[in-house]
Amino acid sequence: RESVEVNDQGHLTIGGVDTIDLVNKYGTPLFVYDVERIRKNARAFVEGFKKLGVKAQVAYASKAFSSIAMLQVAKQEGLSLDIVSEGELYTALKANFPVDKIHMHGNNKSKKELEMAMQHGVGCIVVDNFHEIELIDQLTKAYDQSIDVLLRVTPGIEAHTHDYILTGNEDSKFGFDISNQQAEQAFLALKDHDYIRLKGLHCHIGSQIFETDGFIMAVRRLFDTLGKWHHEYQFEADVLNLGGGFGIRYTDEDEPLELEEYVHALVDEIKQQANQKDVSFPEIWIEPGRAIVGNAAITLYEVGSKKEIPNVRNYISVDGGMTDNIRPALYNAKYDAVVANKMNVERDYETSIAGKCCESGDMLIWDVLLPDITAGDILAVFSTGAYGYSMSSHYNRFPKAAVVFVENGKDQLVIKRETYEDLVRNDLSYE
Ligand code: LLP
Repeated sequence: RESVEVNDQGHLTIGGVDTIDLVNKYGTPLFVYDVERIRKNARAFVEGFKKLGVKAQVAYASKAFSSIAMLQVAKQEGLSLDIVSEGELYTALKANFPVDKIHMHGNNKSKKELEMAMQHGVGCIVVDNFHEIELIDQLTKAYDQSIDVLLRVTPGIEAHTHDYILTGNEDSKFGFDISNQQAEQAFLALKDHDYIRLKGLHCHIGSQIFETDGFIMAVRRLFDTLGKWHHEYQFEADVLNLGGGFGIRYTDEDEPLELEEYVHALVDEIKQQANQKDVSFPEIWIEPGRAIVGNAAITLYEVGSKKEIPNVRNYISVDGGMTDNIRPALYNAKYDAVVANKMNVERDYETSIAGKCCESGDMLIWDVLLPDITAGDILAVFSTGAYGYSMSSHYNRFPKAAVVFVENGKDQLVIKRETYEDLVRNDLSYE
């Protein structure tokens, strides 16, 4: 979790900075990232592979939270980058992220996106479908330019939070089905291509995964295929990309593994499989998003109205909600919170926390124990670093929140709060 503590005034601090000072300086709602935590998460993966003496790339899945400052930190930590759109690529270029370490994803990459990726020299394109193969074929020939690609396959394992289920793979919009001829057909289209260099396979089995079994099964499936292609076509994969999905703790109900444990499990299984199938040991790539930034940020809100319904439930409302964190409304996601200015006050008031959007489903947390809470108090919601800001919206015309980085007791604004002027920037008059 974020390095949070309580200071002499009974205020919550993050990265050594008083959250109430941050609120006074930057307003609410406010995302505060503990940069030290981001670095520690990144290093757990990078060092994990290094300790085992394995060649690897840890690509930060920038969809979890993309901004110039964030990508600068990712770059400082030696991460690679997973992008899924022109906008994410544009942000990476603005952050001067090394292009050769950018991997491009997407189930519907446009010709324009692929062209932009090639012009800038993006390191790898993760090929998703036959239409895309056609487009890359045309572009590489038109530009007389080669490109490295991975083939994205669905290994028939779909992980859902605590467990995983085997699925009939046709039920995914991503990648080539490994169990029928599609993956092989795509492989054959690429393997001897003059410009497209097939480096290996990619799969992503799901998100917020707490066990290693799903990853292990995915590795086995991929090696069944690699073994076959090795035998029949003498193909050797240079790279195996196992995607992201490493789970984090949102509330005490969650029991994630240490990040190194995922690394160990992957490396062990890949070593075994490479031996068994008599193929060379590939470089391992992963794409964590949530596990890098999820537990590195809190969101600070100001409390406003209160509604007490006797024998039913209490509601307190804050000045944000589904516009800065849609995960509770969308996935029934659970969060934990504290009152940042009353850290030494007993938690004896049960209440639910509502957002301020005009929508009953705009709830952040159901039934949480807090100190007696009143208008003007500051609520801190933990572990909002992933898929919070990045999925935020302008519903009800709320300007987007500000984002601050804290490190070594210092704070720095990294995304400005939007203004009303920003909201109408693209509106044109119709008189
Ligand atoms: N790689 C691929 C190909 C992915 O599709 C994803 C996530 C990741 C990596 C990163 O997964 P992570 O390590 O962050 O779990 N909006 C949802 C999560 C959607 C994830 C989509 N793909 C949420 O808020 O939980």
